[in-house]
Amino acid sequence: MTINKHILVGVSGGIAAYKSAELVRLLRKQGAEVRVVMTEAATQFVRPLTFQALSGHSVQFELLNAEAENAMSHISLARWADVFVIAPASANTIAKCSHGLADDLLSTLYLAVDCPVYIAPAMNQAMWHKAVTQENIAKLKAHGVIIIGPEQGDQACGDTGFGRMSEPVAICERILAKPVEQCLQGLRVLISAGPTREPLDPVRYITNRSSGKMGYALANAAVQAGAKVTLVSGPVTLVVPAAIDAYQVETAAQMFETVMAKASDCDIYIGAAAVADYTPITVQAQKIKKQAQQSTIILQKTQDILATVAKLDKRPFTVGFAAETNNLESYALHKLHEKNLDMIAANWVGREQGGFDSNENALQVFWQTGQKTLEMMNKTQLAEQFILLCAERFNEKNTT
Ligand code: PMT
Repeated sequence: MTINKHILVGVSGGIAAYKSAELVRLLRKQGAEVRVVMTEAATQFVRPLTFQALSGHSVQFELLNAEAENAMSHISLARWADVFVIAPASANTIAKCSHGLADDLLSTLYLAVDCPVYIAPAMNQAMWHKAVTQENIAKLKAHGVIIIGPEQGDQACGDTGFGRMSEPVAICERILAKPVEQCLQGLRVLISAGPTREPLDPVRYITNRSSGKMGYALANAAVQAGAKVTLVSGPVTLVVPAAIDAYQVETAAQMFETVMAKASDCDIYIGAAAVADYTPITVQAQKIKKQAQQSTIILQKTQDILATVAKLDKRPFTVGFAAETNNLESYALHKLHEKNLDMIAANWVGREQGGFDSNENALQVFWQTGQKTLEMMNKTQLAEQFILLCAERFNEKNTT
C-alpha cells in the first residue's frame, strides 16, 4: 500500500483509546500524514502528548481554543482531511454524530468534513446491543459512514461480547483499501437475503440457519458503492438502513414473486438468500396432532429464483451464492454453469467459522473465465470486497 493521504483521526473516550496510538503509528508507517483530535473524555485515557509524538502534530481537543484555531481552524482541518476516522467511537460520540450534534471539536468536525468517514465503535456489549445504539449505527450507515467492527471478545469491564474496537491493523487496512465508493454509481441492485420459512401448519415451519447478515452486508456495501438498492428479505432480526428499499417476505414462493416483480428493472441481482429448495405439499389448516410413532411430510420443489432470473429476456447481471458442506468448488461450478450465472460465491457452511449466522465469512468466487478467493473476514468488510469484484465483472461484461 503506498498512499499519501491526509488522515484525520478522532479519538473519543474509552479504554480502547490506547489502541489508537498504534493506529496512528501504522497509518504514518504507510506514508499517511495524520492529525489527531480528541474529546475531553479521551484525554483522560491517553495524554494528547502521546498522539502529538506519534503524529508529529499538536493535538486539538477544544472547539473554542483561539490559539489552536489560529494554527489551523477546525474548518481548515475539515478541508485538509481526505479521510476522517473516529476510533474509538464511544456510544455518546456515535449518538452525537448520528443526530448532528456539534458540542465539541470532534463532533463538529464530523459535520464539517466532506470526505469519507470511518467509525470504529468501542463500548460495553450491552451498550452496543441497546436498540438506540443500533438505530444510531443504522442511521450513520444510511448517511454513508463506513462502520468498522466492533469485534467480539473479552471486555475491559469483565463482560464478553460485541463491543471491542477492531484491531488497529484491521482499521488501517480498511482505511487504505481500494475504495468501494461509487463503483456501482447509478446502478440498480436487487439483493435477496435471509432464510425462508415453509409452513407445515399454523404454528410450525421448515427453515434454515441463515441470519441475513451476509445479504444485509451486501446491501449496505452496494449502497456505499453508489447503487440504488432493493432488498428482498426473509424473516431476520436485522435493521434495514433507510437508504434501502426493502421488502419482507416469509416463504420461498413469496420471495419468488417479489424478486421476479423487480428483476427486469435491475442491473445486478445477487441471490444471497438461503431459499428453501423444498416446501410441504400441503399446509394443514389446524395444528398437526401428535399421533403415530412416525410421520411423513411430503415436500415439493420450490421454484428456483436465481435460475429463473438468469433466464429472463432482459436479465440482470446474475450472481448466485452456493452454500456447501462438501465439494465446494465442484458444486459451485456446477451451479454457475447449470443456472447460467455471471458469477457465483461459494461458502462453506456447517463449519466452526464462517457461513450461517457467523459475523465472519470467506468466499470462493467463480465466474466463466476466472476465480478469486476472499479470505475469512468480517462480513461487512467481505461484502465490500465482493461488491468491488461484482462491479469489476459487471463492467467487463458490459464493455466487451
Ligand atoms: O444469512 P447469513 O447467516 O449471513 O449466512 C449467509 C449464507 C450462508 C446464507 C450466504 O452466504 C449463502 O450462502 N446464501 C445462499 C444459501 C443457499 O441457499 O445456497 P444454495 O447453494 O442452496 O443455493 C444456490 C443459490 O440458489 C443461492 O444463490 C440461492 O439464493 C438460490 N436459490 C436456491 C433455491 C431456490 N429455490 N431459489 C434460489 O434462488
